[in-house]
Amino acid sequence: MTQANQTQALAQGRKLRFEIFRYDPQDKNDKPKMVTYELTEAPGMTVFIALNLLREQQDPSLQFDFVCRAGICGSCAMVINGKPTLACRTLTANYGDGVIKLMPLPGFELIGDLSVNTGKFMRELAERLQLWLQPLQDEANIHRLEKPMAPEEAAKLYELERCVECGVCVSACATKQMRDTFVGAVGMMKLARFELDSRDARSAEDFYHVIGNQDGVFGCMTLLGCQDNCPKDLPHMQQIAYLRRKMATTLVEHERIAVVNQ
Ligand code: SF4
Ligand code: FES
Repeated sequence: MTQANQTQALAQGRKLRFEIFRYDPQDKNDKPKMVTYELTEAPGMTVFIALNLLREQQDPSLQFDFVCRAGICGSCAMVINGKPTLACRTLTANYGDGVIKLMPLPGFELIGDLSVNTGKFMRELAERLQLWLQPLQDEANIHRLEKPMAPEEAAKLYELERCVECGVCVSACATKQMRDTFVGAVGMMKLARFELDSRDARSAEDFYHVIGNQDGVFGCMTLLGCQDNCPKDLPHMQQIAYLRRKMATTLVEHERIAVVNQ
């Protein structure tokens, strides 16, 4: 459909056709299926707004997640016409033929319909990789003065803190989909955030023991699905390359010490 036709169709309130994955894993008698709904498009309509209208007007049992409606909470991620992305940031006008197919994000536990348990995944990832600051000094001392951080370092950490844990990069990564034990881009990005933090006590060798293997930085096949689809445009490849260089240097140093000690 040309731009002019699309604008005209919108002005007339064209009919959108939604093909939505429906399945309730709690119901033993239910089977996965695609269900079709129709809705009149309104100007500026997002997939999220459309889903809310469908739930309000046609089917109150439709399951999907949202909190912020502004691309901040990461809850509304789903696969829209084959692409994992955020429903609240996706305009229905992007789809010229008015057909929109919605599937839940693959690679996560399905709660029902379009709702998946990304929270459980992120919690398990945090425990596996110890994604929290491990300070240089353990002892709490309320009299200690705050240590200022260099603005360049703060800017790097801030960039990586922008992740909204939507799970899109996990679903878009073919390596992760083929090999469940692979850490995935979100885990490596979050670990890079602590590796870059001068307040963290962990050495390059400590990080090497966590991700210096095929399930970590050496397992990434640079397929770019994470970076191409991340709704926050985070620099996955740059961070994975950084960690890979760091881990490779640690490995060489490891081998050198082993040879010297023989
Ligand atoms: S890195 Fe990007 S795609 Fe991955 S969870 Fe964070 S915001 Fe979502
Ligand atoms: S509802 Fe929060 S990111 Fe879409």
